[in-house]
Amino acid sequence: MTPAAVSLEAVTARFAGAGGKEYTAVDGVTLHIAEGAFVSIVGPSGCGKSTLLNMAAGLLPPSGGTVRIFGDALRGINRRATCMFQQEALLPWKTVLDNVTLGLKLRQPGAGKRTEELGREWLKRVGLEDFGDRFPYQLSGGMRKRVAMAQNWIVGPDILLMDEPFSALDIHTRQRMEGEILSLWSGTNKTVLFVTHDLEEAIALSDEVLVLSAGPASRLVGRYPVDLPRPRNLIDIRTEPRFADLYRAIWTDLREEVLRSYAGPPSRPAGGPRQRP
Ligand SMILES: Nc1ncnc2c1ncn2[C@@H]1O[C@H](COP(=O)(O)OP(=O)(O)O)[C@@H](O)[C@H]1O
Ligand SMILES: [Mg+2]
Repeated sequence: MTPAAVSLEAVTARFAGAGGKEYTAVDGVTLHIAEGAFVSIVGPSGCGKSTLLNMAAGLLPPSGGTVRIFGDALRGINRRATCMFQQEALLPWKTVLDNVTLGLKLRQPGAGKRTEELGREWLKRVGLEDFGDRFPYQLSGGMRKRVAMAQNWIVGPDILLMDEPFSALDIHTRQRMEGEILSLWSGTNKTVLFVTHDLEEAIALSDEVLVLSAGPASRLVGRYPVDLPRPRNLIDIRTEPRFADLYRAIWTDLREEVLRSYAGPPSRPAGGPRQRP
């Protein structure tokens, strides 16, 4: 059997909290993401979505458990992955082209002309071929996202980790970006782990939606395969009956966690099974 692209095996994340008390953000989460899958994680704000993603990226070593990337225990930064965050990290003093090729130059210094060619190819793929000489401040929010996408894809990662990448965009720009991500991903064998608090976005994009419980000590409380056919028309998909069925089913789980997060820390034992009324 081929190993999963990303495996979290009973991972736990503890942080030093106020007054010297430890805070357990994520508690014993196990999940396996198959190569080539597009998987989303949803959950209430502060439940530990970014924490899980950061562990998969190798930016945060787990306090317990193991992260495996294609079967190998991860130590240090995950070199087979790139990360895209809500705030794109473009260097304001570099041109769009230089921003796009930055990661490539760091990974393959001396590639020279080929790097610039590849940069221009990627600018074209994300519809910014005429903007290579501009600076980030001269671009709209959607265009800056496209630069960030090109930056992420140009290095040829096997895994793309995305943490609410589109949540700062207006709804129309956001839908366009979602479509562009799907068209970049489809036909590749790349694995995407996508964090969002937006359930509609998660269903529209993914093969599977994972629901994380409210913190502290978050756990996975639901896994929902999304059987909507591909390619997907993101403009119309939200009005399809199957979409509504999936939304209703997942929201039942998620709603409970969102309400719990409003109510504050639970009285249930951390990590214990959920008590259904
Ligand atoms: N570096 C850190 N130090 C202390 N607490 C942290 C740190 N990172 C995250 N946390 C806490 O862990 C919990 C989960 O955070 P996070 O993963 O960012 O949530 P989400 O992305 O789901 O909104 C939150 O309560 C947050 O305050
Ligand atoms: Mg987050």
